[in-house]
Amino acid sequence: MTAIPSRVRLIDVGPRDGLQNEKQPVPAGTKIELVHRLQAAGLREVEVTSYVSPKWVPQMADNHDVMSGLQRQAGVRYSVLTPNLKGFEAAVLDRPDEIVVFGAASEAFSQKNINCSIAESIERFAPVVEAARAAGIAVRGAMSCTVGCPYEGEIAPGRVAYLAGLMKGIGVQRVDVADTIGVGTPRKVQAAIEATLQHYGIDAVSGHFHDTYGQALSNTLAALELGVWNFQSSVAGLGGCPYAKGATGNVATEDVVYLLHGMGIDTGVDLDALVDTGAWISEQLGRPTSSRVARALLAKRAG
Ligand code: HMG
Ligand code: MG
Repeated sequence: MTAIPSRVRLIDVGPRDGLQNEKQPVPAGTKIELVHRLQAAGLREVEVTSYVSPKWVPQMADNHDVMSGLQRQAGVRYSVLTPNLKGFEAAVLDRPDEIVVFGAASEAFSQKNINCSIAESIERFAPVVEAARAAGIAVRGAMSCTVGCPYEGEIAPGRVAYLAGLMKGIGVQRVDVADTIGVGTPRKVQAAIEATLQHYGIDAVSGHFHDTYGQALSNTLAALELGVWNFQSSVAGLGGCPYAKGATGNVATEDVVYLLHGMGIDTGVDLDALVDTGAWISEQLGRPTSSRVARALLAKRAG
C-alpha cells in the first residue's frame, strides 16, 4: 500500500470556482481582498479568475481588474482559467503563473460548458498550451465529470484515461481529477485517479471534489491513500459550476485542513486565519459558511 503523504499542497479555488456562480455581482475589491486573506493564511496556490466569455460567466468579467489589483506574495502561485487562445491572450497580459485549460470526460458536459466536443476542445487547447509553455507559464488541465456527469450519468474510468492521454499529448503538465457534481464515492474516485495515473505521475495529479453529496472528505482520504498530495478546495465551501445545475461548492478548505492536520499532515495553512477568511467572505456574500469545521470553531470561540 502507498504511504499517505506527509505534506499536502492546497490550491484554493474559492475566488474562481467559488465565486463564478454567484448571482449578485461581487466587487473586484472583495475578490482581491479574498486572495490577499488566503495568501496571508498560508495558501501557496490560489485560482484567481477565468478568462471566459462574459456572456457565459458574467461574474468573471472583471478578470483583469482582479489580477492587476493583486499585491502578489513571493512563493504564491496565481492560476487562471483559459478555454481558448482569446482567453490566453487576455490572461497573459496579467502575468498568471499558471493557466488552466478545462476539458471534460463527458461529451455532453463538454458541449454544455465550453460549447464543443472533447476532440474539438483538445484542438483549441493545443495552441494555448504551446503559447503558455513558450512564455514560461505553467499549464494545468482540469478534467470535469471524471466520475459522474449531470447529463450522461456515471462515467467509466476508461473515459478519464482517454482524456488524460489527450491532455498529456498536447503538453499539459499536471491535471485535476474533478468530481464536478460531487456524486463520487471513494472507490469510484480512486478508479478515476488510477485511470489518470496511466498518463501522469502521482505528483502531477490533484483531486478536485465538490461536496454535493457530502462525500468530498471521504474522497479526499481515498485519494490520499493512493498518494495524491495536491488538492483543490474552496474557502467556506463556496461555489459550483454554472453548467452543472444543482451541484454545490467545492469541499471547504477549512474542512480539508482540519482533516489533514488531524492526521499529522502538513499544509502550511493557519487554520484560525483561514476560518476568519471564510467567515469574512461569507459575511460579504450574506450567507452562512458551508464549512462544518468553521461553524464548529466559530461556535467554540463564541462560547
Ligand atoms: P463559444 O460561443 O463557442 O465561442 O464559447 P466563440 O469562439 O464562438 O465566441 C463567441 C463569443 O464569445 C464571441 O463574442 C467571442 O469574442 C467571445 P461575440 O462576438 O459574440 O461578442 N469569446 C470570449 N470572450 C472572452 N473570453 C474568451 C472568449 N472566447 C470567446 N476566452 C467559450 C466558447 C469557451 C468561450 C464559452 O463556452 C465559455 O466562455 N464558457 C465558459 C465556461 C466556464 O467558464 N465554465 C465554468 C468553469 S469550468 C468549471 O467550473 C469546472 C472546474 O471547476 C472543474 C470541475 O469542477 O469540474 C474547472
Ligand atoms: Mg469545480
